[in-house]
Amino acid sequence: MRSKLDFDRYDRIRPIRWIGEALELLDQRKLPFVVEYRSCASSDEVAAAIRDLTVRGAPAIGIAAAWGVVLAARGIDAPDGAEAAHKLEPALERLNAARPTAVNLAWALARMRRTLGEAGPDWRDVVEREARDIETEDLAANRAMGTLGAALIEAGSGVLTHCNTGSLATAGFGTALGVIRAGVAEGRITRVFAGETRPWLQGARLTVWELQQDGIDATLIADSAAAHLMKTGQVQWVVVGADRICANGDVANKIGTYQLAISARHHGLKFMVVASSSTVDMGTPSGDVIEIEERDPGELFGVGGSRTVAEGIAAWNPVFDVTPHELIDAIVTEKGVVERPDEVSMRHLFGV
Ligand code: MRU
Repeated sequence: MRSKLDFDRYDRIRPIRWIGEALELLDQRKLPFVVEYRSCASSDEVAAAIRDLTVRGAPAIGIAAAWGVVLAARGIDAPDGAEAAHKLEPALERLNAARPTAVNLAWALARMRRTLGEAGPDWRDVVEREARDIETEDLAANRAMGTLGAALIEAGSGVLTHCNTGSLATAGFGTALGVIRAGVAEGRITRVFAGETRPWLQGARLTVWELQQDGIDATLIADSAAAHLMKTGQVQWVVVGADRICANGDVANKIGTYQLAISARHHGLKFMVVASSSTVDMGTPSGDVIEIEERDPGELFGVGGSRTVAEGIAAWNPVFDVTPHELIDAIVTEKGVVERPDEVSMRHLFGV
């Protein structure tokens, strides 16, 4: 087994680029066939890009929002950070309202608000530094989690992942995909399967493409093939990310995660959630109180812009679900691993 991971070799994509006068976002609506950055010159453009999924993935939307605050700051004058924070509040609220479920958005904005409030006359530099720190800390956390999570996986294992949790969804390297990158590099993971992730197809359009860029072979499956795949014995772990991890260890993640956890338990597979501590929300006691985003039912009516469903059909499109903590074997964060998470083990690592 190789011991030292060459991070750059296994991680080439960057979804967010700060270029000083604007924020450039790799347009994830167009991947994999068009690789194009969309330039945002205002915080409201960043909010729109979060809402329409140009940028997506819990950590990535938090980072984009932090840069959105820097852009909003361009339009105001204030003698110190406290007054700047007051004037920027409406822009922060518009950013916060862009998507409800991933806590990283609210977390990043709260951190920007707090830092601004404490800053003096140099608040513009302070706020830009804070956005940069949020981004670089995310990359460092992902790399640390990759190593911690991979260490739980036996050599020669197969894994199934869901949605896109890679470089595209973070500052780089990814959460669950970071564990998969590290596990492949170390020879622990020899088979990678990715579910399509209907209806937006994050798995089919993003995950397998992203892994291909880094020379990692992955096999795409229809979401509905997951239980059958598990039964064949080709996978030993399901490895997923998170949009919010509650105080009792319940996890909100992309719709379909819950049914994978149920199937994994039924087939005796292990279930791992990988997320940085910015996704842990000790203020939310359990998954029952998480707001689940519902998107346009129109996402279910077609594929690739062509309508596949008869006119006049109703559809329901919740885009996240909650996996109860009892179905989770390990939550991996940069602060450490919580095995068989519950209220007590979560509090032990994250406090209150
Ligand atoms: O709707 P999306 O694509 O933003 O949902 C993303 C997910 O559910 C990811 O699994 C989660 O944000 C973790 S990404 C590191």
